[in-house]
Amino acid sequence: ESVDVLVFGSAIIDFVCYAPRLPNAGETLHGTKFQTGFGGKGANQCVAAARLGSKTALIAKLGDDSFGHNYIRQLEVEKINVKYVQQLPGHTTGVAQIAVAQNGENNIIIVVGANNMLGPQDVDNACELFEKAKVLICQLETPIDGTLEALRRFKGISILNAAPAMENIPLELIQRCTILCVNIVEAGCLVGEPIINISDAFNTMARLIEMGANTVIVTLGKIGAVCSSKDAPYDCKLVSAPNVEEELVKDTTGAGDAFIGALANSYARFPDRQLVDHIAAAHVVAAQSVQHHGTQSSFPYA
Ligand code: RIB
Ligand code: NA
Repeated sequence: ESVDVLVFGSAIIDFVCYAPRLPNAGETLHGTKFQTGFGGKGANQCVAAARLGSKTALIAKLGDDSFGHNYIRQLEVEKINVKYVQQLPGHTTGVAQIAVAQNGENNIIIVVGANNMLGPQDVDNACELFEKAKVLICQLETPIDGTLEALRRFKGISILNAAPAMENIPLELIQRCTILCVNIVEAGCLVGEPIINISDAFNTMARLIEMGANTVIVTLGKIGAVCSSKDAPYDCKLVSAPNVEEELVKDTTGAGDAFIGALANSYARFPDRQLVDHIAAAHVVAAQSVQHHGTQSSFPYA
């Protein structure tokens, strides 16, 4: 059976509290609604690609608790190949505590639990998937040695979503992936300088290409994304996102994952498109996701 998109990464249960605004340090706020959901950047990206029509497989670790059990059933509902999604005895399923404000902004704390056990050995074990997949996606919610091994092993198009933001990651990570995709916070972290405006974003991409990246995409939220590639590092392009009326924005959690999953789906199934067209296709999907609550629960079908 063929595989369009292979995801090596995280699966986490989301605990989401909706409130009028985000709390300040030391403050207690009354929220308006609570919801649990299936999340984690890896699984989110996989579900986004699967719903758009990609044949997908996920390599991930869950705990041997009811969260882990339910998560595998859910992935099956999404028609994802779960042969290498494992529940580990003695470990807890990763959890995320998420606050979402009325204006759609969020903040997140993750305790990744079993996700910390995803390592290089898991790349070996699933080598059959690495041989046949068209596109590989990795993130930074699971240990770096495993991610690095996955990128080393894979010969197709690889997308590294260097999220959450991390300083001093091995340069080999950004050099090995075909496409490095980050938001402004993550990009700023990689080069050690914050991004304030679009011209900073252009400079940061040039810097990342000097550091050995091949193609870089920096997402800018509702503005869109900028991109550039090593064959023309000064030819930076801005791809605007479709406009979503402010009162329609409900929850931006997972919008980045919708973007990555859609990007991978586009690369796997429409390989003749140009970079800017892959990005435009991903914007459409991310713009849909912000208009609904939750992460996976907000991702559109083809
Ligand atoms: O990107 C959104 C995701 O980040 C959430 O689903 C949460 O689990 C965290 O991993
Ligand atoms: Na959403």
